[in-house]
Amino acid sequence: MNILEIIEKKRDKKELKKEEIDYFIEGYVNNSITDYQAAALVMAIYLNGMTKEETTNLTIAMANSGEILDLSNLNKIIVDKHSTGGVGDKVSICLLPLVASIGVPVAKMSGRGLGFTGGTVDKMQSIPGYKTELDMENFIESVENIGISMISQTMNLAPADKKLYALRDSISCVESIPLIASSIMSKKIASGAEKIVLDVTVGYGAFMKNIKNAEMLAKEMIEIGKLAKRETICILTNMNEPLGYAIGNNLEVIEAIKFLRGDMPDDLKQVVLELGAYMIKMSGLGNNIENNKQKMIENIKNGKALEKLVQMVKNQGGDISYIENTDKFPKAKFIEPIITKKEGYIKEINAEEIGKLACYLGAGRIKKEDKIDNEVGIILNKKVADKVEKGETLAYIHANDLNKLEDAKEKMKEIIKIDNQKIGKEQTIFGICK
Ligand code: URA
Repeated sequence: MNILEIIEKKRDKKELKKEEIDYFIEGYVNNSITDYQAAALVMAIYLNGMTKEETTNLTIAMANSGEILDLSNLNKIIVDKHSTGGVGDKVSICLLPLVASIGVPVAKMSGRGLGFTGGTVDKMQSIPGYKTELDMENFIESVENIGISMISQTMNLAPADKKLYALRDSISCVESIPLIASSIMSKKIASGAEKIVLDVTVGYGAFMKNIKNAEMLAKEMIEIGKLAKRETICILTNMNEPLGYAIGNNLEVIEAIKFLRGDMPDDLKQVVLELGAYMIKMSGLGNNIENNKQKMIENIKNGKALEKLVQMVKNQGGDISYIENTDKFPKAKFIEPIITKKEGYIKEINAEEIGKLACYLGAGRIKKEDKIDNEVGIILNKKVADKVEKGETLAYIHANDLNKLEDAKEKMKEIIKIDNQKIGKEQTIFGICK
């Protein structure tokens, strides 16, 4: 067996055997297969797809490429959460302290930004001092002691995914069902959770642009979960416009803190409550979805959810004064409003375009070595279906570079589309796949 024959086979639309997939993953992780060979194979998979069996074998090979975390000592049902990616997606930062405050143990490993979507790890790192790299002992101890830890994909968990994730991002091979399913499920299997709730985003700002593809991705992940004995539920959520109002690292952390104080944008609230209600149910703490949502609302009102975030940030070395006073987060040099000359109703705010613009301002990476600028981004002042009057502010651009600010101002006027016709709000939750 050699890698050239494997690339050739996939290039020619043939099915790969388990041994060939294992050979590729092992060789890529131990560097005997080069980045350019892996890139060729990944592109062939992207173009020609994989059968269900190939995707399952790829997932298992990736999960077994490193350690498999054993959380059984915790003696608790661990329910993990993951998103297929979005723009303005600060769900984990709102949701995980919230469910932890109800007693759901949270042992969460998050990713960095990928393509035009942001990553929770980058966002958490905008809290000064917050350590996203804990060793296994500290990670487990934190979950035992305070019921929650959110870290980056450290340790030697699914190292094949770490390499493939960065490679796919750098060769425009992200939006592929077998590659996304294997990436997510290999991490989830390696990180030891018994049960998994997945936020499968759909729309302009998601990797799945329509419900049919999102359902296919969901079914594939549920199937892999079954084979690996991890009960998996997928919630299909709308990602046509950004989630909430803030896009950018500091800006999204501030929005998440305000959320936990009770200032909840409607779409973000619906996604958080839906995912949370299933996490509570799967961990055996409440069978009734509506009652679970009520419990979460209570813990936002009584401050317990915010207190859990403070506890976690403190435990991981972060400066909690930033949570107590969000004005402490450093601001971009230029904050400029986008003012409309038109009146009518907001017809579209394309989340992918907004994600790319935020990346251009510096909130995300174009190359994997790029440094992120935590201060920059976009704050929307309006959402789809809102009425606008001439002279009203549609959004604010937060920029640290004057040229980029000017470009962004022009681009924003194209991205936010206004129509004379009244427009209804889109659904936020499209459905549940089990
Ligand atoms: N999130 C992941 O972890 N992997 C992907 O491929 C896409 C989103």
